[in-house]
Amino acid sequence: MKAARWGVIVAALAVALGLVVIVAAWGDYAVGEPPMPEPQASSEMMARGAYLASMGDCAACHSVPGQPAFSGGLRMAIPIGAIYTTNITPDRQYGIGSLTLADFDRALRFGVAEGHTLYPAMPFTSYANTRPEDVKALYVYFKYAVAPAAVPNRRNDIVFPLSMRWPLTYWRWMFAPPPRHVVVAADLDPAIARGAYFVDGLGHCGECHTPRALTMQMKATNASDGSDYLSGAVIEGYFAPSLRSGGKGTLVDWSADDIAGFLRTGTNPRGTAFGSMTDVIVHSTRHMTPDDAADTAKYLKALADPAATQVRFAYDQATEAALHGGADQARGAALYLDNCAACHRPDGKGYDRVFPPLAGNPVVTAANPDSVVSIVLKGAESPRTDSTPAQFAMPSFAWRLSDEQVADVASFVRGSWGNGAGPVDAATVKPLRPPARRDAAN
Ligand code: HEC
Ligand code: HEC
Ligand code: HEC
Repeated sequence: MKAARWGVIVAALAVALGLVVIVAAWGDYAVGEPPMPEPQASSEMMARGAYLASMGDCAACHSVPGQPAFSGGLRMAIPIGAIYTTNITPDRQYGIGSLTLADFDRALRFGVAEGHTLYPAMPFTSYANTRPEDVKALYVYFKYAVAPAAVPNRRNDIVFPLSMRWPLTYWRWMFAPPPRHVVVAADLDPAIARGAYFVDGLGHCGECHTPRALTMQMKATNASDGSDYLSGAVIEGYFAPSLRSGGKGTLVDWSADDIAGFLRTGTNPRGTAFGSMTDVIVHSTRHMTPDDAADTAKYLKALADPAATQVRFAYDQATEAALHGGADQARGAALYLDNCAACHRPDGKGYDRVFPPLAGNPVVTAANPDSVVSIVLKGAESPRTDSTPAQFAMPSFAWRLSDEQVADVASFVRGSWGNGAGPVDAATVKPLRPPARRDAAN
């Protein structure tokens, strides 16, 4: 009797699971826009598509060094394992050569390809706002201008049953905003509207700069979603700072020109790109037209929180005076003089566009210290762009400084020159330390 009852329960569960899977499959099948006429490829369209592909930074994920452009194969860690980016060259066997415009649109904006929902590592929740004419230009570029490459896709490293994709469909239903073509309010400054279109869409800035919920979706996808939007988030051991203008650790002290210059060159008198922002600059924003960069900057400056923008950085001479007098007993002061001051100078002001200032730098004053700690541990090379052909390097200190010492020097720069950010402890440093290299022992 008992066994029979269990049998019924198991069968019922199996039927329920089957239904859940079938509903997901139907959802992936039915999604997207109806078939669209094949666009007439023109050279203007291809050029526009190439520009949009760099604005969307498709190469950052779909190209790997030493392999044909856009042939995929980048390994991306996700909470349940690792996935590989796919071949998006027009190769008919391994790439996307047989996709129609509607199929391409479905992958780009709806996150569904080959009949299944994509992992949101492909930033389709951001690309969702892309306008039909821009989707078309991208499609024409990938179909007719990119060279086909017969590189097979790699299998993802996720174990069964986690590798089943149907839960992704439910994730998409719950958390991916339905793809929308942005409607611009008539009274909105057109420059700001263009900036928003790029930042929220192809630019996918929020994928790194907006915090995520436990279920992995961005907590806000546009300015009307509230104050989490672009308020700063941790990405791969670095803190991508707030892009809003409201208080310490934000862009409040950056002018629109500072922001535009940073996007196009990777540096400005207030900071230099590092961590994954270097890739964003090198593959993507350095190609921006001056007008597009200016619109983006204007939009970001408009994300001001009127109450908090009053809080501005004020330089405090006391640190420099104490360092010069040899009297600075502050935690980490001696470490700073020995390891950092040669480049960043005792006054914390650095050398314009060579060694960035640490005084008033939003990555240093941000409440979250991960960027300061990670750059001290791992070092960095400033991005190389046409207008900044020389590259300057910050050495890595992982092999030279203990967790305690890194915490001390990070606390010093965060607390000096008027930065006023909180101290760092050794427990924060430890997990950010890169895995020990074998040659470090020699
Ligand atoms: C942050 C990384 C990232 C960026 C940027 C990115 N992609 Fe992807 N893309 C992925 C990943 C990862 C997959 C595979 C996801 C999966 O297997 O579920 C993917 C899948 C795709 C697919 C589906 C291909 C197929 O048939 O399986 C298309 C099409 C695509 N991307 C196009 C683009 C385009 C066009 C851009 C630029 C506008 C772009 N991607 C930018 C990570 C990225
Ligand atoms: C792949 C992740 C990633 C993406 C996408 C990304 N950023 Fe960043 N960004 C970072 C990280 C990490 C930092 C911190 C390191 C630094 O300051 O360079 C950063 C820093 C910045 C800074 C400098 C802030 C400061 O205080 O130094 C600006 C400005 C910026 N990003 C703008 C943008 C814009 C605009 C976009 C969209 C076009 C964007 N970012 C997209 C990761 C990203
Ligand atoms: C040899 C010169 C040099 C030394 C020594 C050096 N740095 Fe740097 N530092 C740089 C350069 C160059 C950059 C910009 C690198 C980049 O953006 O990729 C940088 C960037 C930084 C940044 C990020 C700021 C920004 O906007 O890019 C911080 C924080 C920082 N350094 C802290 C330190 C600390 C703390 C020490 C001492 C433990 C130190 N640096 C030692 C050259 C140096």
